Amino acid sequence: MIYSRIAGTGSFLPEKVYTNADLERMVDTTDEWITDRTGIKKRHIAGEGETTCDLAEHASRAAIEAAGLGVDDIDLIVFATTTPDQVFPSTACLLQKRLGIHGPAAFDIQAVCSGFIYAISIADKFIKTGSAKNALVIGAETLSRIVDWTDRETCILFGDGAGAVVLSASDKPGIISTHLHADGQYESLLNVPKGIVSDYEAVKQGEAFIHMKGREVFKVAVNTLGRIVDETLDAAGMTQADIDWLVPHQANVRIIGALGKKLSLPSERVVVTVQDHGNTSAASVPLALDTAVRDGRIQRGETLFLEAFGGGFTWGSALLIY
Ligand code: ACO
Repeated sequence: MIYSRIAGTGSFLPEKVYTNADLERMVDTTDEWITDRTGIKKRHIAGEGETTCDLAEHASRAAIEAAGLGVDDIDLIVFATTTPDQVFPSTACLLQKRLGIHGPAAFDIQAVCSGFIYAISIADKFIKTGSAKNALVIGAETLSRIVDWTDRETCILFGDGAGAVVLSASDKPGIISTHLHADGQYESLLNVPKGIVSDYEAVKQGEAFIHMKGREVFKVAVNTLGRIVDETLDAAGMTQADIDWLVPHQANVRIIGALGKKLSLPSERVVVTVQDHGNTSAASVPLALDTAVRDGRIQRGETLFLEAFGGGFTWGSALLIY
């Protein structure tokens, strides 16, 4: 049996930071409101001309190094992003050029905040079927480019960043199972209603930005993620007691708290980075994972529960032994 296992992780955040105090000067909000409702204190913002691929390159090089591999060992690139540098080529191909990798398959995944879970699930299947040995899996975003910085209901939530893992073939269990879902009937609750390229007028009218019915999204997210905990544990024949760490999508501390409770995990076993990063969409899970790996909290052999929920709606989970 071939398994896929996380061989290395990496992440990168742009230098520029917007604190809640900065946002108080931009829109009618307060640090207290943002902290109470979301837990967010600051978020990183890409500099002028800094792209999703730029952030991803740093995170990818760090993940490849941590895996003890070279770029020539990578034989698959799966790149999750909602904010690609260009319409085409895919950001995966742009990254492939930067890294000097020639030939292996490279493609983007668009599942908004669930993108990294989708990407790791796909890479896992390539490895388990023998189609790849070392897959570079990235979640990277420059969401600040599709945020309306005059809309207080959304602009306080999002940030930019990148996270990456190298998934390698192994004879020891790594990824136990992944579970992916989507339900397009909810598309109107969270979307960018116009295409930036297809309709430049929409950009000028403020329609090519994130629109969200936050309260409705919140309710569906909590219910849906609760269900996926049961689905994932049942599939593996495990219970809450078998999970060492929850590494959740970082949208809101209240959603994360509800999930931690559902898994009966004490708060110190839940990786929370939303206070420092905001919601970085597809980058949020790999960023949180790399943070907890590098600061020594997550150790080899521990069982991790990864989950995400995002626009579409899309949602998913990955259960793995690190
Ligand atoms: N500052 C101050 N007041 C604000 C702000 C702000 N930044 N934003 C909204 N308000 C006001 C509202 O106008 C409203 O005022 P009213 O009561 O007078 O009408 C009040 O605060 C409460 O607004 P709600 O929207 O009900 O606040 P809620 O507690 O639901 O928190 C939030 C809003 C943080 C957006 C929350 O609903 C949430 O986190 N939703 C889920 C987001 C999410 O998980 N997204 C998933 C993925 S994202 C992706 O896929 C790209």
